[in-house]
Amino acid sequence: MTTSSAPGKIILFGEHAVVYGRPALAVPVTQVRATATVSKNSRGGIWVEAPNVNLSSELSRLAPDHPLAAAINSVFPALGISRPPACTVYIQSTIPVAAGLGSSAAVSVAVIRALSEFLGQPLPDERVSALAYEAEKLHHGTPSGIDNTVITYARPVYFAKGRPLQTFRLGAPFTIVIGDTGISALTKESVGDLKKLWAADQPRWEKVFDRVGEIVWRARQAIERGDIPSLGKLMDANHALLQEMTVSSRELDRLVEAGRRAGALGAKMSGGGRGGNMIALVEKENAPAVAEALKSAGVGRTIVTQVG
Ligand code: MEV
Repeated sequence: MTTSSAPGKIILFGEHAVVYGRPALAVPVTQVRATATVSKNSRGGIWVEAPNVNLSSELSRLAPDHPLAAAINSVFPALGISRPPACTVYIQSTIPVAAGLGSSAAVSVAVIRALSEFLGQPLPDERVSALAYEAEKLHHGTPSGIDNTVITYARPVYFAKGRPLQTFRLGAPFTIVIGDTGISALTKESVGDLKKLWAADQPRWEKVFDRVGEIVWRARQAIERGDIPSLGKLMDANHALLQEMTVSSRELDRLVEAGRRAGALGAKMSGGGRGGNMIALVEKENAPAVAEALKSAGVGRTIVTQVG
């Protein structure tokens, strides 16, 4: 039997523009995880059990474009195995689905790792990330690759599509409060809607994405200097551009505002948007007060995470 787990993630800066080649900053969130366990079975065939999503099925009965089936099926050819042994892949996750915390990429990474280990040929991180990226394409056609990257390597990343992975130094640790709107939203839809806007007026949106790229670059420098107040202001500026891209929502805007009113240094939506999560940058001692304010404003669950 083999078990592997992978963390959730949040995007600190640069979501959506990252799909168009601009950089983005993301960090793992270790308080939530997806875990996959692969064991021998005596009933024959390959079985997939994922009680969180009410799934119990033989692999061959899942549609080939089912992201879970795709992640599992990608491992055998990658290892040169044409007749995989009977086994059960059991998946559990504490990462909320469709909430911007990288649940789909974390499940893929955990499954690919556990299965390749079970088959006696553990895959290196680079291959795990590349296979998880292929499964991500089934969730939304044009992923940037940031989710599978930050989750595979489980460390802060400065990511730009097609460029070698870069991590960044932290001048000082900082604290983020994550607030879940409880509204599930598919990244596919917000990415797709923005793509339509972009196709109709590319010069306008390319300029917006450039401004995001600039914010991301300045945020990286602020993080490296340990200049947390500047980082907060950059978060606010990034949120305004995400509003312009129409990927925020009334609920996200309201919670971002509630976080700022409670003393956050800055706040923004995080991930695909429309629902899912927002983040607030806070002074460590102020985290409980901001978390409380977000709960009073309607957030179901908050996670306080320390970066660095
Ligand atoms: C999703 O976590 C982040 C997006 O930028 C999409 C992507 O990068 O693939 C919205």
